[in-house]
Amino acid sequence: MLAVQAATVSYGKTVATRGVELHVNEGEVVALVGANGAGKSSLLKAVLGVGGSLQGRITFGGQDVTELSAERKVALGMALVPEGRHVFPTLTVLENLELGFSRGTRHEKPRRIEQMYTLFPKLRERRQQAAGTLSGGEQQMLAIGRALMSAPRLLMLDEPTLGLAPMIVADVSELLSSLRAQGLSILLAEQNARMSLGVSNRAYVLAQGEVVQQGESAVLAASDHIRRAYLGL
Ligand SMILES: Nc1ncnc2c1ncn2[C@@H]1O[C@H](COP(=O)(O)OP(=O)(O)OP(=O)(O)O)[C@@H](O)[C@H]1O
Ligand SMILES: [Mg+2]
Repeated sequence: MLAVQAATVSYGKTVATRGVELHVNEGEVVALVGANGAGKSSLLKAVLGVGGSLQGRITFGGQDVTELSAERKVALGMALVPEGRHVFPTLTVLENLELGFSRGTRHEKPRRIEQMYTLFPKLRERRQQAAGTLSGGEQQMLAIGRALMSAPRLLMLDEPTLGLAPMIVADVSELLSSLRAQGLSILLAEQNARMSLGVSNRAYVLAQGEVVQQGESAVLAASDHIRRAYLGL
């Protein structure tokens, strides 16, 4: 589904990632874990084509998309929920969802909104409410719902549980498991290694911009060395 080859992302002289190789297979959930500043966000943004400058190669669904604009990549089925749940606070929940709609004919839009309300019953209850009045967890669900409105083939999520209460983290984790069960491919960047290793098939550990460990999530989570050295668990 996605292959990232020799990805070096930089901001002027600051190098955020160096020679990263990773891939996400169809229907797979892949976690990108690592401490503050490891380069997780830089990598996700560079895959979509926003943020720092990228050297390397990105293929998506077998097609080289390295040179394509973010808009074209979204049209091909990539979606990114950026860090910090950027919803439009003065627009309603429904309007926020509508803004996420792309990739589809007009008559599909109400059907997709209905799917989002089924997935997130809270959003249905609050559909006419300004998004800025939602709780942090609800805003995160709305941000994810908005990304899902484009019916992506690959959903990339940047720190979806940051700053959320443990109960809401459990909700997000459950949501990711159910999206995974529906066969969606997911690339998940998280400082919360416990959660992300719990919901993913495979994981990459990034440290100072480089992949230092990779493998099946269950295996990484079971390694005392990896837990201590990289995951703070
Ligand atoms: N817009 C920017 N301009 C300059 N340097 C940046 C920019 N964004 C990130 N960096 C630098 O790139 C490196 C990687 O940052 P990045 O935000 O990708 O890490 P991260 O793993 O997402 O961290 P966090 O867990 O805190 O979100 C850091 O050294 C950071 O200071
Ligand atoms: Mg980040």
